Amino acid sequence: MDEKKDIYFKIFRFNPEADTKPFYDDFKISVEKGVTILRAINYIKDHVDSTLSYRFYCQAGICGSCSMRINGVSKLACTTQVWDELPNCKEVDVITIEPMNNFEIIRDMVVEYTPVISKLEKYISWVTPRIKQEDLGKKEHLIPEAEFKVYDAATDCILCGACYSECSMMTSSREYISPLALLKAFRMVKDSRDTRSQDRMKVLNEDHGMWDCTHCYRCVQACVKNIPIMDAIQGVRNEAFLRGMKNSEGYRHAYAFTQDIKSTGRLKESTIAVRTKGIFGSVSMLPFALKMMSRNRMPHFFVKTIPGIKYVKKIFQKLK
Ligand code: FES
Repeated sequence: MDEKKDIYFKIFRFNPEADTKPFYDDFKISVEKGVTILRAINYIKDHVDSTLSYRFYCQAGICGSCSMRINGVSKLACTTQVWDELPNCKEVDVITIEPMNNFEIIRDMVVEYTPVISKLEKYISWVTPRIKQEDLGKKEHLIPEAEFKVYDAATDCILCGACYSECSMMTSSREYISPLALLKAFRMVKDSRDTRSQDRMKVLNEDHGMWDCTHCYRCVQACVKNIPIMDAIQGVRNEAFLRGMKNSEGYRHAYAFTQDIKSTGRLKESTIAVRTKGIFGSVSMLPFALKMMSRNRMPHFFVKTIPGIKYVKKIFQKLK
């Protein structure tokens, strides 16, 4: 006999046309082992409450439209099994369903996706080939296998938005490029068929662009396709280094870090702001510096070299 049990779904509800604030609805249904979250909420919609709103299409982990927060983490509802979620429940057998973070809510789990599209447009997230428009589609435009291996993983992205939803930088600034657009940028920048890499790199180098990632790694944890998004972000930054794009705070910050570690094995924190922002740019940080001084928390001006510096230098030598 099939295993079956009663599961409670605590589902976020908000209809801006009718509700003054969001609330949670509870539904209890009997669920068989092997049923996905999407099938479970489809059952609720079909048999209990037809007003429940969410998106889905392919039901096979391909289109990316069914992303939602399941027990506090952004996932695809169509590839997440109800029984696999039970160990993640805060209350026994109560699965929480919410809309993704970092998006405006249209209704229930339906979020406004336009900002993602705008970012994909802003960062030129497509290939503009050398082939003339009228010749497109007439013959293949091949790339070497070795080149494809560099961005193979990035082509798995289905734009589901799970990384966008979990990104801590997105939470602090909605203007931030997002891990999703950075991943696409990496994939396009490395494609030898493309002709607009330089334009793309220029926009990536601006404020809210590639240098704003804070390495929280939440995008990597959230990615439903296990894409190493942080490697792609680092790849775009390396591209900036290779192209000698020195005119940004991000580049200067990364350069200062590298030089410090290379020379002493430690960060010279007392001067990092000046080396990143320049003397005039650092003036705005004076109140903060004075506060640190008053609390005796100012980093030391002189930094001692670590005992194992020769090993650090060897690593740099190898990297070179
Ligand atoms: Fe397409 Fe889930 S419905 S990915």
